[in-house]
Amino acid sequence: MINEYKIMYIPPSGTTAYCQHTWVTHVDDTCVGHIHMQVEANETIKFLDAWVHEDHRRKGVFRSLWDSRWNYVQREYLGYNVYAWCKPASLPLLLEKGFEGGDTCTYVQKRVTAKGKIPFEQCFVSC
Ligand SMILES: CC(C)(COP(=O)(O)OP(=O)(O)OC[C@H]1O[C@@H](n2cnc3c(N)ncnc32)[C@H](O)[C@@H]1OP(=O)(O)O)[C@@H](O)C(=O)NCCC(=O)NCCS
Repeated sequence: MINEYKIMYIPPSGTTAYCQHTWVTHVDDTCVGHIHMQVEANETIKFLDAWVHEDHRRKGVFRSLWDSRWNYVQREYLGYNVYAWCKPASLPLLLEKGFEGGDTCTYVQKRVTAKGKIPFEQCFVSC
């Protein structure tokens, strides 16, 4: 049927160092959202990289992807510990689903420059 959201599951390839499972929402043969999880050591699972196309946001796409992944985890990974790093838009759903909030993490950045050089040297112009 046209314009109906459908979810496809993509299993790990087995060819990478990490073990990643993916769920993709597609409509009219185009991907409009995806979420992932990686199975780590010590019976731990990381939820990561949720994304929904801007034209399809706030329509429950993330929620239905999330529920599909959670159903899978409950079926296949009972007893594992699940964690995620959340942004403000993804945090509310995880809290609603019973996840406990940890410390807040702040993104920082810095350009790499040659040793001893000031990144943007001041140039005094005298006329
Ligand atoms: C975050 C994102 C995946 C949400 O997708 P979405 O399909 O619009 O989300 P849904 O409509 O399924 O919303 C599910 C719940 O998520 C929360 N939510 C979604 N968007 C939100 C926003 N902008 N601000 C706050 N909460 C939000 C709400 O709790 C919502 O439940 P409600 O509709 O009952 O209020 C989407 O906005 C996105 O791709 N953002 C850019 C990438 C990103 O930040 N990803 C998170 C990586 S950690």
